[in-house]
Amino acid sequence: MKTIVAASQNKDKIREIEEITAQFGMKVISRSEAGVPDVEIEEDGDTFEENSYKKAYQVMKMCKAITIADDSGLEVDCLDGAPGVYSARFSEMELRDAIYAGDDGVDKANNRKLIDLIKDFDREKRTGRFVSVITMVYPDGRKLVARGVVEGHVELEERGEGGFGYDPLFTPLGYDKTFGQFSPEEKNKISHRGNALRKLKELLDREDIEAF
Ligand code: IMP
Repeated sequence: MKTIVAASQNKDKIREIEEITAQFGMKVISRSEAGVPDVEIEEDGDTFEENSYKKAYQVMKMCKAITIADDSGLEVDCLDGAPGVYSARFSEMELRDAIYAGDDGVDKANNRKLIDLIKDFDREKRTGRFVSVITMVYPDGRKLVARGVVEGHVELEERGEGGFGYDPLFTPLGYDKTFGQFSPEEKNKISHRGNALRKLKELLDREDIEAF
């Protein structure tokens, strides 16, 4: 079994990627475990695909090993798809948004800003989706790309202590609880990240690429 390096620095994402890929028999290690220097990779693309490839390619160049990257975010329909590719930095985007930031970190500030922007919309208009684009790049330049999505509604108050990021605000379609109220196993079964990684596995099987 070969080792794959996860380009992400986000420990919650790495945990989920490890949990999901373990079911396929993959061994994923973090950048720091692979000895990759702690350099910031600027996510300046306009799409999840561009950012995902950029992260995977740059980390692969540093470790010369098969690398996967996840670029992900939440698209909200009544906000024309925002925060989208800006999901991680949503609350930092404009100076006036400093009012949203508190002691409790970026996720809380992002959630406060999101609630503020959608609070006047009825629930039926507060639809959206989590998107995850996983890119796998090989030292010889080959790449595989898989996009996973989960549709749902965005709530006006946080519910649940599980997950991370926007999870306490997101109710997937067909459920009456937020991702914050899901167990890790339940979330991974239907999540955007789970769906993208399962697609990646299908691509690997179909193309008969010996990755691991
Ligand atoms: P990036 O992919 O590093 O640009 O950041 C993705 C951002 O989207 C995270 O910081 C979260 O705010 C949000 N996000 C992505 N996936 C999830 C998820 O599974 N749950 C909650 N928030 C997520």
